[in-house]
Amino acid sequence: MNETAVKVKELVKRYRELLAVDHLNLEIKQGEIFGLLGPNGSGKTTTINCILSLLSYDNGEIEIFEKPMKADAYDIKAKIGVVMQNVAVFEELTVQENIDYFCGLYINDKQLRKQYVEEAIQFTGLEDFRKFYPKKLSGGLLRRLNIACGIAHKPKLIILDEPTVAVDPQSRNRILEGIMELNRQGATIIYTSHYMEEVEQICSRIAIIDNGKCIAQGTAEELKKLIKKREIITIDILSVTADDIEALKALPHVYSVTFEDSKLTILCDGGSHNLVRVLDYLQGKEYSFGHIHSALPTLNDVFLEITGKELRD
Ligand SMILES: Nc1ncnc2c1ncn2[C@@H]1O[C@H](COP(=O)(O)OP(=O)(O)O)[C@@H](O)[C@H]1O
Ligand SMILES: [Mg+2]
Repeated sequence: MNETAVKVKELVKRYRELLAVDHLNLEIKQGEIFGLLGPNGSGKTTTINCILSLLSYDNGEIEIFEKPMKADAYDIKAKIGVVMQNVAVFEELTVQENIDYFCGLYINDKQLRKQYVEEAIQFTGLEDFRKFYPKKLSGGLLRRLNIACGIAHKPKLIILDEPTVAVDPQSRNRILEGIMELNRQGATIIYTSHYMEEVEQICSRIAIIDNGKCIAQGTAEELKKLIKKREIITIDILSVTADDIEALKALPHVYSVTFEDSKLTILCDGGSHNLVRVLDYLQGKEYSFGHIHSALPTLNDVFLEITGKELRD
């Protein structure tokens, strides 16, 4: 069994009367890419800041690499790389100087530091911008600089808080690829996002957060098994009789059939061969149909079924 990288027990954080984190429990193993997925305002950044001891909290315990995390636990802090939601770099330093500054907080050896800074520049693809000042960088490049500053010292645990917000698709893909590469090189990753596709793409396990509470935790596959909806079949068809809709509803695993705008939508709660059965039925009744689509639920469906609201605003 892998060792624990981060353990959060019964974390509670209040901002006056607002309960921002509500008895949150997390256990993140070394080697994972762990996703904290939740809408804006659900408490992701607050949780990260508590984990890092940047914020005091009202209740709970936090352990990092199996030691209690405290504001002055510098030995633990040296093993952590943080990429904050708000880009935090020095305007008066160039790209290279910024990375060197942050790397220098942890790496004293000059030669090693030079090597690490260069590796971070190459890793984030900032070779052509090393002499640039931050204000000359696009949003995507600035994010990449923010990441380079957070990871140059080769931390064992890397925490990235919404690193792809306001980033062009090219930089976004580069960032996601980079995170997976850092993980392959051995780093444990905590990744917060309100983009379910990203979280599903890169995370080995996911905690879904809403109103400061963890409402579900597991692999994407496990999370999808928590809900009733397992398969969504849509068929373009001109018309369907009410009798046939009732007959489709009676098929095994089908629990909802709706027809709207020449589109038949059939929701199934499990089973295989659902699509074949549906098509067999329609063909038997000599319907002709156009586009056919069968989809698995998304994490948005999971969020929707558990909370009653959309993850996307
Ligand atoms: N410094 C603060 N003072 C008061 N309320 C805050 C503060 N920071 C965050 N909040 C509130 O706490 C809740 C959680 O915020 P946050 O952790 O930033 O969520 P997320 O990162 O998921 O968007 C929100 O309702 C937010 O408005
Ligand atoms: Mg946030």
